[in-house]
Amino acid sequence: MRFHPLRLRRWLALLCLALLAAAAAAQKPPAAAVATAHPLATTAARDILQAGGNAFDAAVAASAALAVVEPYSSGIGGGGFWLLHRAEDGLQIMIDGREVAPRAATPDMYLAADDGIRQRASRDGALAAAIPGAPAAWAHIAERYGRLSLAQSLAPAIRLAREGFAVDEFYQRMVRLRLEALRRDPQAAAIFLADNEVPPVGWKLRQPDLARTLERLAAEGAAGFYRGELAKRLVAAVRAANGIWSEQDLADYTVQERPPVTGHYRGIRIVSAPPPSAGGIGLIQMLNMLSGYDLERLPPAQRVHVIVEAMRRAYRDRAAYLGDPDFVDMPLAMLLDPFYARGLAQSIRPDRATPSRLLAPALPDQPGGSHTTHLSILDAEGNRVAATLTINHLFGAAVVAGDTGVLLNNEMDDFAAALDEPNFYGLVGTAPNLIAPGKRPLSSMTPTFLETENRIGVLGTPGGSRIVTMVLLATLAFEQGLPPTDWVGRGRFHHQYLPDEIQLEPDALDPQVRKELTAMGHELRVLERRYGDMQAILWDRAAGQVLAASDPRGIGAAEVFAVTSVPVVASEWD
Ligand code: GLY
Repeated sequence: MRFHPLRLRRWLALLCLALLAAAAAAQKPPAAAVATAHPLATTAARDILQAGGNAFDAAVAASAALAVVEPYSSGIGGGGFWLLHRAEDGLQIMIDGREVAPRAATPDMYLAADDGIRQRASRDGALAAAIPGAPAAWAHIAERYGRLSLAQSLAPAIRLAREGFAVDEFYQRMVRLRLEALRRDPQAAAIFLADNEVPPVGWKLRQPDLARTLERLAAEGAAGFYRGELAKRLVAAVRAANGIWSEQDLADYTVQERPPVTGHYRGIRIVSAPPPSAGGIGLIQMLNMLSGYDLERLPPAQRVHVIVEAMRRAYRDRAAYLGDPDFVDMPLAMLLDPFYARGLAQSIRPDRATPSRLLAPALPDQPGGSHTTHLSILDAEGNRVAATLTINHLFGAAVVAGDTGVLLNNEMDDFAAALDEPNFYGLVGTAPNLIAPGKRPLSSMTPTFLETENRIGVLGTPGGSRIVTMVLLATLAFEQGLPPTDWVGRGRFHHQYLPDEIQLEPDALDPQVRKELTAMGHELRVLERRYGDMQAILWDRAAGQVLAASDPRGIGAAEVFAVTSVPVVASEWD
């Protein structure tokens, strides 16, 4: 066979690119890194990596540790999404451990006789609890992807639950915000309060019942939680507290493996959470709209304006289309198509805000709870995990199921309780996210990988409906070549279609930019507090460097460390 010189050159160029890509893929990070929302969870993950575990084992250890030390954010009674990248074969998969509605759930279960919503019922108490997914997901990840046993990876969490840990001011603040609900449940009050009051700093939070439940899970795997004696006790406690769980609900729970959604923005490959999260779709849609702009060249107010307009349009679509993929047909190809996004972007006026009511109507859905958590892990082989975990609102439903130590989630509040009715955040629900038995509520959680030939980002954050726009702003910072300290630290602003306003952190935009945005017709609402708790890792292959950062708004810890792998001594952990 004879090659034309031009064709030969093209072939050579392609070969070089393929070789470079293969070399990059084969490259290993110079260090491992962990960033989580709590120092004790970061330590748990680091210890597991140092003991010979991989990133997946470390993710199980950190998730379970967060469940113990951040009972206000996530837990064994909750759920989450774990986005995995396996270095040896490049597999990328999302482990969907989202909670599901019990069989006895109905679309109108939170409606009052006058058609209003019984909001307390979907937020406080056992009726608010969906069937947990976290324990099944931990067992699944350990079994299918881990190198250590589930028992080894759960050992740090069991120790933290049994021996306890000293609470800090952050814990006090979280308890204060949920004090009345915690006081209403004797089990919750006995565990999380000191004599029914906010515990002093340094008070030891011990959870021996939870330690026993974790031990059972460690010994028996998922069946130890979802079947048999513990399942019976969980159901009895939930029903005694007016909940509607059945043993069949627990036995039926299954983890789903879902391919992540992917997109491209200025040379960055975006890998993120698919439905039942609205996060990945929204993130890619916004980036597709923004790819038509040279953001760096725009004056500051103009830049914020077009980002906000992209947010507005993506959140409209989220409300119109998204729900549990096992129940709802969604036009995902259209939503992810750059041409569709370009069409949406054409309606962005350079000088004026588009009032949300002028966009084709779609009622916004539940924005998701704001009290969630995130962890990012990179191991020395290049495996990575971005996981966002939740029990929904602070301390979930604020009910502990009897003597199991399991704090119940209130994830049912992430469903639309009714069409047109405002939820906790003043927003109303849409049809794709109505309650049905066995259905997963729509989420905002957006664990994400950002990939270029030379740089890999691993990131995510809690923050309810603002999660997706936080990850968007971090992606734009990644694109600018900024380090993770900037992604997690920068001031944040948000638009979610309705309410038609830009929500911004107190220090997010300078006065001149605010003035110009107002002149363009934007409503600005300055929030009282900063929001989010992003955990991020950057592996810069060109620089041979790993960096990690934990959001300064929280109490988390990020560590980069060399791994001197010492095989685990089984008796130390089991
Ligand atoms: N419960 C928070 C979320 O899933 O978005």
